[in-house]
Amino acid sequence: MPHSLTDPHVIAPSGGTLRVVQLTDTHLCRVRGGKLLGMDTDHSLQAVMDLVRSERTGIDMLLATGDLSDQGSLEAYQRLQDYFDQLTTDHYWLPGNHDDRAAMVSVASHPRRLSRELRAGRWQVLMLDSQVPGEVGGELGEAELAALDTALAGAAREDLYSLVCLHHQPVQIGCAWLDEQMVADAAGLFAVLERYPGVRGVLWGHVHQQVDRRHGDINLMASPSTCVQFAPGSEDFKADAQSPGYRWLDLHDDGSLVTGVSRVRGVSFEVDLDSGGYL
Ligand SMILES: [Fe+2]
Repeated sequence: MPHSLTDPHVIAPSGGTLRVVQLTDTHLCRVRGGKLLGMDTDHSLQAVMDLVRSERTGIDMLLATGDLSDQGSLEAYQRLQDYFDQLTTDHYWLPGNHDDRAAMVSVASHPRRLSRELRAGRWQVLMLDSQVPGEVGGELGEAELAALDTALAGAAREDLYSLVCLHHQPVQIGCAWLDEQMVADAAGLFAVLERYPGVRGVLWGHVHQQVDRRHGDINLMASPSTCVQFAPGSEDFKADAQSPGYRWLDLHDDGSLVTGVSRVRGVSFEVDLDSGGYL
């Protein structure tokens, strides 16, 4: 993908607070109703969309942080677009290890859907690419880190706060099998982030579970998948019985970031909890 983070897409926020929703790891299959570990990922995504619509109003942007399709099919991205269009807000995508970037580009109806830098009010949102084609684990690479550095320097000059998004986790989360897949050059990522006090959050997917931690002034956030959940603290692959969900973030003008996770209630989902693997 192009490594430049220039040419930011500017969004006019609806109010003083930027209201963001993150949906991640939707894993839509080529055919509607396809399943991941026994769960119909169309059904679960629709349940999460219904939840978002019932809980959040005035959303300024929807961020989709990878593994949007399960096998990179055009059909999956076409349906994804239709689901996300149920919210009357723009949505922005970045790739995960299950995605096919060329297919994402060819389906995206909005030329800004794969924007790498968004700006709204006092905030900059960066959409990084940690995908290594053919690999499950993530890495940013020197060019991506250099582009990040340049973009954060631009934000610093304009006194903006920054939220940095990517697919893979940049810290160990305590699941040995997933921690093998974390961003390989995470030390390089944090070396860049620590140079810019305006960085207030790092947001990712991939781990199919909630993580909320701090690194200085930086909120470190991982979020539930809209389909199957993975069990926290698991040594080997383990699915979890928790419901699908999403994360919301309110980004305030003073640089404060308020966030939370919400999960579907009152809907039963099938999931194969005894499955020994996931690719
Ligand atoms: Fe992933």
